[in-house]
Amino acid sequence: MSYKNILVTGGCGFIGSHFIHHLLKKYKDINLVNVDLLTYCGNPENVRDIADDSRYNFYKADIGDYNAMSSVLKKHQIDCIVNFAAESDNNKAVSSPVDFARTNALGTAVLLEAARQAGVKRFHHISTCEVFGQLPLKSKSKFSEKSPYNPRTPYNAAKASGDLIAKAYHHTFGLPVTISYCANNYGTHQFPEKVIPVFAIRAIQNDPLPVFKSSGNKREWIHVSDHCSAIDLVLEKGRAGETYNVGTGLEKTVTNIADDVLAILKKPKTLKKIVPDRPGHDSRYLLDSSKMKKLGWKPKIKWHEGLEETLNWYKNNPKWWQPLLSRSNSWK
Ligand SMILES: NC(=O)c1ccc[n+]([C@@H]2O[C@H](COP(=O)([O-])OP(=O)(O)OC[C@H]3O[C@@H](n4cnc5c(N)ncnc54)[C@H](O)[C@@H]3O)[C@@H](O)[C@H]2O)c1
Repeated sequence: MSYKNILVTGGCGFIGSHFIHHLLKKYKDINLVNVDLLTYCGNPENVRDIADDSRYNFYKADIGDYNAMSSVLKKHQIDCIVNFAAESDNNKAVSSPVDFARTNALGTAVLLEAARQAGVKRFHHISTCEVFGQLPLKSKSKFSEKSPYNPRTPYNAAKASGDLIAKAYHHTFGLPVTISYCANNYGTHQFPEKVIPVFAIRAIQNDPLPVFKSSGNKREWIHVSDHCSAIDLVLEKGRAGETYNVGTGLEKTVTNIADDVLAILKKPKTLKKIVPDRPGHDSRYLLDSSKMKKLGWKPKIKWHEGLEETLNWYKNNPKWWQPLLSRSNSWK
């Protein structure tokens, strides 16, 4: 690893906690700082096993708090930041849109400014395929890194805003920024508000699976460990000022996912229940990830194998998810 002191923000969330485990396992000689505000979906259990690792430090803080961020950057001589911290749920974005602008746009701006003042050598910003808007359902089109931004929900509009500020910090101040746009992630430890954990837990409990009316809408899926290996490669080989799409090409409709979950868990198809669409429900996203492949990245986990591993984990870890259900909009 080219960097020694790495700050991961949002490291108690789903992808951030996987990324921290990925780095600490692979690189013995790094120091890792995790800053997380522990919002309703930030879960210290996700990093409990590394709490005593001498290479690891945790701070409960807001990326939008300039003094707190500056002090962490200085104290730990951070040379690389990977910014996962965000409000990330499209359903919550409909009920509390301002929270999304505060963290995903303003919080990112504050962290960028703290990074500029501290002179960090790399600021990697985690973005999403959703900033590009939606693709027609019946088409073969894909988003490239050069596709225009066209966000349609408060979540992806706030993510797009954060991206644009990050790009401006590169162009205006020369901050070495890279951005990755990733497809929908799945895997263990995902907060039970997103579709796969919701389907998994409901199926395990023999409860109906809520399938949006536009059940043919498609998403591109990637196992979280493949996302982590892509970010790692961008830190090593990516160039400042560049952006990278991270996807697998695997598209699934909501109905496909419900059917796959029910089949793996050996539950009847009759558990599917059609519910009204969420406002602003995008039809389709798909990324052209050839730039990442040229950099040397390849996803490794096959859908069926990754989904089975994920579902088994939810089946075997009710102690992890049971206390979270009361905090999730999907269960109220
Ligand atoms: N989940 C996906 O499918 C997906 C796909 C593409 C991109 N992303 C992006 O990846 C990142 C991580 O997503 P996730 O699914 O792990 O989300 P998550 O909701 O599981 O985790 C987000 C974490 O950020 C923390 N956080 C929120 N606001 C904060 C703030 N102001 N300061 C510090 N910490 C704060 C939360 O406590 C939580 O631990 C996000 O930026 C998201 O936009 C996610």
